[in-house]
Amino acid sequence: MSVIPRKAVLKAKPYQPGKPIEEVKRELGLKDVIKMASNENPLGPSPKAVEAIKKQAGNINRYPEGGCFYLRQAIARKFKIKPEQVIFGNGSDELIGIALRAFVEEGDEVIVANPTFLMYEVASIVHGASVKVVPMRYFKYDLKAMKEAVTKNTKIVFVANPDNPNGTYVSRHELEDFLKGLPREIIVFLDEAYFEFAEEQDYPNGLDYLGKNNIIVTRTFSKAYGLAGLRVGYGISNPEIIKYMEAVREPFNVNSLAQAGAVGALRDKDFLSKAKKIVREGKKFIYYELKMMGVRYVPSVTNFILIELGSKSGEVAERLLKKGVIVRNMKAWGLENFIRVTIGKESENKRFIKELKKIVL
Ligand SMILES: Cc1ncc(COP(=O)(O)O)c(C=O)c1O
Repeated sequence: MSVIPRKAVLKAKPYQPGKPIEEVKRELGLKDVIKMASNENPLGPSPKAVEAIKKQAGNINRYPEGGCFYLRQAIARKFKIKPEQVIFGNGSDELIGIALRAFVEEGDEVIVANPTFLMYEVASIVHGASVKVVPMRYFKYDLKAMKEAVTKNTKIVFVANPDNPNGTYVSRHELEDFLKGLPREIIVFLDEAYFEFAEEQDYPNGLDYLGKNNIIVTRTFSKAYGLAGLRVGYGISNPEIIKYMEAVREPFNVNSLAQAGAVGALRDKDFLSKAKKIVREGKKFIYYELKMMGVRYVPSVTNFILIELGSKSGEVAERLLKKGVIVRNMKAWGLENFIRVTIGKESENKRFIKELKKIVL
């Protein structure tokens, strides 16, 4: 029996996530595996999030509150915005699709950079958008070129700040130059999944620019807050944009445990500062070791580092995997000479360096 999918689906390139620890253990028969491949938080979840989830567990016979009432209040209070300026997603990933569903017709144009977070292109293709790709310059978003690529058919420009996989950021000045004179109808999807880690003076807070342009700022509980498995992210914009996005959202897209966990995590300031500290220190250690080995890397403001290992990078990733160290092979991004490694706990960073030395030196 043959079926006929939408034309856009025939062009879809499925996203390949980092390998889960359990899968590697199963497939390679390994007992001790560490994952440094998906920019997760190595500390585990925030204890306050776990406590809140436990309390909520007895209620999962009921559907969740579709509007994420308590989480919405907490986010609105934290950022001093109106509750109707926020939308929640099953991870911030889901908000990419929601924005496309709300604003992009078949054939409309979206602009993405390359290489950047792959989901912008993956989701845009599935939604039937025409994707215009603008190359990065020296591992950084080229916002000038992205603005020049705008046409009357452009609906959304996707900007990851900081970027994944490069770990670089767009400065306040660069963002302001980009926004100045950009036609108002164009939506800037400003993905700040790694916002909490970026501590540079000139790193802009996307929320400061709401109102002047049509901007959707997205953030997540998956990284600094340690809740990747729960799947919660949020988008902040003006109430009109949020209203259209809400119209195409699944009614119960964020489950009740995720909502409770996220509220708990927001209260856990201690956990957040520990997570930032471990990344700051881990990065310093890995940078130092890489320098000693004569290995080049892209300085990062996030919790991961893009490391240049030449044409054998894919092989290095495979050999590390066999030793129980999961890092990201960058082939899917077209970065054949690189691997990407997420900062882990001190012991994990040491193990990664030890295994890398055995391969590279
Ligand atoms: C730049 C960027 N945006 C969004 C996401 C999606 O995160 P989540 O769906 O877990 O919120 C990721 C995850 O790796 C990312 O790197």
